[in-house]
Amino acid sequence: MLSKEQILELLQPLQEPQLGLSLTELGWIRDIMVKEHHVALSMVTLENRPEDATALTDAARNLLSQHGVKDVHIRTRAASEHDRQSLNMEQAEQDQDEVLVKGHAAGLDGHELLSPESGVRFIAVASGKGGVGKSTVTVNLAAALARQGKKVGLIDADIYGFSVPDMMGIEEYPVVEDGVIQPVERFGVKVMSMGFFIRENNPVIWRGPMLGRMLRQFFTDVQWGELDYMLLDLPPGTGDVALDVHQMLPQSKEIIVTTPHATAAFVAARAGAMAIQTEHELLGVVENMAYYECGKCGEKEYVFGRGGGGRLAESLHTVLLAQIPLGAPDNHPSEPDFSPSVYKAETAIGAIYDEVARSIETKFD
Ligand SMILES: Nc1ncnc2c1ncn2[C@@H]1O[C@H](COP(=O)(O)OP(=O)(O)OP(=O)(O)O)[C@@H](O)[C@H]1O
Ligand SMILES: [Mg+2]
Repeated sequence: MLSKEQILELLQPLQEPQLGLSLTELGWIRDIMVKEHHVALSMVTLENRPEDATALTDAARNLLSQHGVKDVHIRTRAASEHDRQSLNMEQAEQDQDEVLVKGHAAGLDGHELLSPESGVRFIAVASGKGGVGKSTVTVNLAAALARQGKKVGLIDADIYGFSVPDMMGIEEYPVVEDGVIQPVERFGVKVMSMGFFIRENNPVIWRGPMLGRMLRQFFTDVQWGELDYMLLDLPPGTGDVALDVHQMLPQSKEIIVTTPHATAAFVAARAGAMAIQTEHELLGVVENMAYYECGKCGEKEYVFGRGGGGRLAESLHTVLLAQIPLGAPDNHPSEPDFSPSVYKAETAIGAIYDEVARSIETKFD
């Protein structure tokens, strides 16, 4: 049987979602009752948001079950006026300072990275359908911005369907030092992906709240250093993770990727609508796999139809940033900078990405 003190100690890692401080230290884990194998307790948070409550409850259950307590009853409630006032501000400030010191040592604190004052330009790359080339566009735009001397980070926010490390030909893993994760750098881009933490391509089977937390850690626990741009490869569609990212990054601007096919463009419009509804400025549409150019005669064949990107841009009141033809990057696994999906600067497609990168830059000025 665990004592109350042991329970508080076990639940020490749980943080108040807005304050980022330990609930145990805040004294916001209360009413602990232990009876044989049954534990009941309540948790206080600044606001009692259902998604926070679920995440905290799940995490608490998880921690307790690791110590044999399976029968757990948890109630959550919002902090009362009294709770807020008696919030031990001194302790809170002290803890906040510690976090900042750690963050500053890391170059850029995660909270700063996410704060609108960080100056980092966030670009989320979204699509309606899967498989239209969202990840390809993200990695190539990131590489193109880096070629232009920008400091670029890339978060593979497609947590279930991560693909960025493989597409960029990354074989290393990030180094973790004192709980701070060093992103892996490739083609001048600092990369973070769930793929680094999953063994042997096993499927990710975590539940929603865990994923949200993981994603947040990509911002807060990673030593990004100074950045001009942070690109996010979103999962396809308008699901929970996409929505989470939108909410986490109110300042992010957005690119929508589609193929020229009418259906793809129609579905992509929903992703565009999500961006607009959540008040994210659209930078424009990239039409990928726009055509196939015959290597011998130079003639263009519109294999997947024509005009989907342009019509989509029009319906979203934004611009068509580029039409990228079909074509695989021309490199070989024996080359040191091999990557399955990054087009080199001196190729025709590489040059299109350079063009997109330049036009993106003007949109932030
Ligand atoms: N312009 C292109 N020419 C040829 N192949 C391409 C092009 N763009 C993307 N591809 C290929 O199409 C496939 C899908 O691309 P990618 O993974 O970038 O799409 P995605 O939208 O991120 O997919 P998912 O929804 O699965 O995340 C990949 O195999 C990629 O190499
Ligand atoms: Mg992808």
